[in-house]
Amino acid sequence: MNDIILTGDRPTGCLHLGHLVGSLQNRVQLQHTYKQYVMLADTQALTDNADNPSKVRNNVLEVALDYLSVGINPDISTIFIQSQIPELAELSMYFLNLVTLARLKRNPTIKNEMQQKGYDENVPAGFLTYPVSQAADITGFKATLVPVGEDQIPIIEQTNEIVQKFNTLYSEVLVYAKPLLSSTTRLAGLDGKAKMSKSLNNAIFLSDEPDTIAKKVMSMYTDENHLKVSDPGKIEGNMVFNYLDAFDKDAIKVLELKEHYSCGGLGDVVLKKYLIEVLNSVLEPIRTSRKEFAKDSSAVMNILKKGSENARIVVAKTLHEVKNAIGVNYFKK
Ligand code: TRP
Repeated sequence: MNDIILTGDRPTGCLHLGHLVGSLQNRVQLQHTYKQYVMLADTQALTDNADNPSKVRNNVLEVALDYLSVGINPDISTIFIQSQIPELAELSMYFLNLVTLARLKRNPTIKNEMQQKGYDENVPAGFLTYPVSQAADITGFKATLVPVGEDQIPIIEQTNEIVQKFNTLYSEVLVYAKPLLSSTTRLAGLDGKAKMSKSLNNAIFLSDEPDTIAKKVMSMYTDENHLKVSDPGKIEGNMVFNYLDAFDKDAIKVLELKEHYSCGGLGDVVLKKYLIEVLNSVLEPIRTSRKEFAKDSSAVMNILKKGSENARIVVAKTLHEVKNAIGVNYFKK
């Protein structure tokens, strides 16, 4: 298959377990089969952080370290920084004419995020229109597969609407993209209330040290009616089992623990200690690798520089075709 992958994250904080199961593991696997571009979406991050550019800037390196330490390999994946590809901004300008304000306001992802951030009519225009710039990211690479979390599906739908509109108005330059979800599409937060997210303060980060992980797991939501060890406990909605399902490779052991817990006689502390072990065995190699890469940040920046140069060539080609299709290549065809 000749699928091309474009994916990425807004660098506003370190990546966590939700990212690991939601998209990172997929990217590590897919890079062996497909041409994969992984983008640090700093321009997109600025759409709601214009007053705090240093946060975005600093997290470009942090997220790059997360990528490298989970095994996204820069020799086979192209890791790059969005703002270093001016052609993406130019593509966005043409795409902005293909969507209406009403459509932008209806995008469920944006609606949701606007609510969370308390934006109303005062939403930054760049934020409201970020799905258009994301359409430029995706189509600029002629990506056909986009491995993301499920919250991004409406953005990919909107991308495909732009593709359809462009191709009918001008000519068949752009290609349609499909989201690629992992089997665990949404990991709940430690509190069990919502998805894991930095802003909700319910996340375990890939870079967390063992003592932090232990503290966080000990605070996890289990079953509020499971008071005595001998009480039968609930599995459903119990975050410890939720995480064991996601991270313990020993499915039979998890099944046994579930049986024991629901019959009574298995205490939360014992169960949580086991989860701590499981999480540490997943995160220990990532943490070690991250520290190794972090020793030489200029080498990491060099990887991003090379990646950005290569990515730019690809998008420049698409932009040229786009401008030809619209008829705004006046001096070179
Ligand atoms: N919107 C994505 C996020 O919230 C980041 C992103 C920007 C992206 N452009 C993309 C993801 C293109 C996939 C494809 O993290």
